[in-house]
Amino acid sequence: MKTLLQVNASLNGAASQSSRLADVFVARWREAHPQSQVTVRDVAGEAVPHLTAERFQAFITKPDERTADQRTIVAYSDTLVGELQRADVIVLALPMYNFGVPSTLKAYFDHVARAGVTFNYSAQGPVGLLTGKKAVVIATRGGLYAGTPKDTQTAYVRDFLAFLGIADVEFVYAEGLAISPGTKEAALTGAHAQIEALTQEEWKRAA
Ligand SMILES: Cc1cc2nc3c(=O)[nH]c(=O)nc-3n(C[C@H](O)[C@H](O)[C@H](O)COP(=O)(O)O)c2cc1C
Repeated sequence: MKTLLQVNASLNGAASQSSRLADVFVARWREAHPQSQVTVRDVAGEAVPHLTAERFQAFITKPDERTADQRTIVAYSDTLVGELQRADVIVLALPMYNFGVPSTLKAYFDHVARAGVTFNYSAQGPVGLLTGKKAVVIATRGGLYAGTPKDTQTAYVRDFLAFLGIADVEFVYAEGLAISPGTKEAALTGAHAQIEALTQEEWKRAA
């Protein structure tokens, strides 16, 4: 049985363009994998707290030396990590806010990047431990950035996922959503077509 993790990060709740497009991908993916299990983690709706010194200290304290508060902090991080470990496919709904990722998504990244758990340091550098997974990133933006030096968000997310061992990543873009009704419609139509093409590949693989 395949497992898919959908990570939503928008402050727009049900009106979120990125989450809606991710929903379309997941619905089509489910058709190809009827026995699958889907988990949704909404890092904005149930906001992930900022990584503080206290929280980071809990991560790096030896398990048998952790206080009760530290065990609670680590258990929360372990829950987020466990969802990633179990997933064969990760769908990340990624709005652009102020040129970057939503701050709650950054907080989520800070809670799942755990030395000895999701990555290790080796003599050759860091080694990601979340291998054998595919990620689909659905990036929605008011303006136009993809393929230009201003799109630091794509490189950042790609690098972060690779750091954890997730190197098979596809990006679907819906850009220009705030420019005009025409650019918005064209962007959404284009994103739907990209999603359809990706899920067609899933159908072929599942057949
Ligand atoms: C707080 C905020 C900041 C934004 N910053 C940017 C930005 O820097 N660049 C951009 O192209 N669009 C920006 N936008 C527009 C969003 O990227 C766009 O509305 C996108 O659809 C958001 O995805 P969502 O509907 O899933 O939240 C911003 C929107 C908000 C609410």
